[in-house]
Amino acid sequence: AKAKMIVDKDFEIARVDSRMYGSFIEHLGRAVYNGIYQPGHPAADEDGFRRDVLELVKELDVPIIRYPGGNFVSGFFWEDSVGPKEERKPRLDLAWRTLETNQFGLGEFAKWSKKAGSEIMMAINLGTRGVSDALNLLEYCNLDTNSYYSNLRKQHGAKEPYNVKTWCLGNEMDGPWQVGHKTAYEYGRLAAETAKAMKLMDDSIELVSCGSSNVDMPTFPEWEAVSLEETYDYVDYISLHNYYGNAENDTEDFFAKTQDLERFIHTVIATCDYIKAKKRSKKTLNLSFDEWNVWFHATEGDNEEMKNRPWQTAPHLLEDIYDFEDAILVGLILITFLKHADRLKMACLAQLVNVIAPIMTENDGGAWKQTIFYPFLHASKYGRGIALRSVVNSTMHDSKNHEDVTDVESVAVYNEEKEEVTIFAVNRNVKEDALFEADVRCFGGYRVLEYLALENDDMKVVNSIAGEKVSPYSKTEYKLEDGIFTANLSKCSWNVIRLG
Ligand code: AHR
Repeated sequence: AKAKMIVDKDFEIARVDSRMYGSFIEHLGRAVYNGIYQPGHPAADEDGFRRDVLELVKELDVPIIRYPGGNFVSGFFWEDSVGPKEERKPRLDLAWRTLETNQFGLGEFAKWSKKAGSEIMMAINLGTRGVSDALNLLEYCNLDTNSYYSNLRKQHGAKEPYNVKTWCLGNEMDGPWQVGHKTAYEYGRLAAETAKAMKLMDDSIELVSCGSSNVDMPTFPEWEAVSLEETYDYVDYISLHNYYGNAENDTEDFFAKTQDLERFIHTVIATCDYIKAKKRSKKTLNLSFDEWNVWFHATEGDNEEMKNRPWQTAPHLLEDIYDFEDAILVGLILITFLKHADRLKMACLAQLVNVIAPIMTENDGGAWKQTIFYPFLHASKYGRGIALRSVVNSTMHDSKNHEDVTDVESVAVYNEEKEEVTIFAVNRNVKEDALFEADVRCFGGYRVLEYLALENDDMKVVNSIAGEKVSPYSKTEYKLEDGIFTANLSKCSWNVIRLG
């Protein structure tokens, strides 16, 4: 296998919106309770927030975190989660068949996200609720008026508004599993009226119209076309969600799944632009991929747990333990996102702690990094700046369900302030190393600052509290001569080449 890449700083895709490296905390399993919040734990701070978790979140440098769901939000009464803790009502959460104590709520999340250095992406309940509840919540969060909900927030101890800028109009409303699921038209009408009213209250906010739950939904892309017909004028983004799995244990085909992701992104862009044309609108809608990850390892056990042992608090749910090949797919997804940085502005790795997450905790012990922590960390750290439209010529192969799969996927991001350019590259060929050549002559005088790689012969190897079997190492075998970088990309590897 081999690939040639030409990187030139004059050929820009777009400036990468830092919100591309967002994540997600849902009231689900041990994400909140025994995840980010565990009063009494030796690592807990004065607010009950786990310091060890906060450190890892800060290391990932997550600029925005979606909250509080997910499917959870479609039955959420936000009012129950604020005010004096002893008066908060415990509630049943039908999405995950869990008992929500509400001991951690909006105010706590606002405080926690500030400590984490992240903004909030707030999702509202358009499953069991509607326009007026959304307005009350917006007033509570963002307004400094002498009115009921704004005053209530002050009474609850938050003098300054939370100033939440980004709001998701419901979650996966196309999914039959969603509490309060709607048809595209029903959703479109409700979301449009909610959006209109919310912008009347606070015109500084940005709104996300709810798109399809995954590319294989039978209603995709009709859902987008019908709902956007209603919401287009009032919203700024449309959401995409998708999770990937390798239940068939076919690594080669698993790595090819970013082809499906490309098709998903292209179709959503085409549908947005079709509505734009139909409406003679001047506005271009952007994409918020606000749920993505690998998710399949724990599904069977989770279904059994929810069915047979409902109404627990903080059960072990969606605790996928990620292996080496999952980290490679996460890297491939990040490369795909960067290649679409002109329209894909926000993305949330779902999720952040314990629930399909890069960060795990032990209830009676420390926190640790899953394999997928690393490609996300590298992209978040070095993938800020301008995504470059590079020419990449790679050899190809076919996999079980995909044709013409490139062996090497790569993208470059130029950070002008730091005068650095980073090439992210994955060799997804499962049999052969790839000879990789990058023409970086346009960056005269640059040297290789660092070459980090994730490599492993065992696709199924995992990390745990006991130690990290998957972590990056600094690669020293490469050449940079006359502006041509060459290296051997090991089969199934994630590569981060930093020049500056
Ligand atoms: O992230 C887990 C779940 O996946 C979310 O609650 C839901 O939106 C999606 O189906």
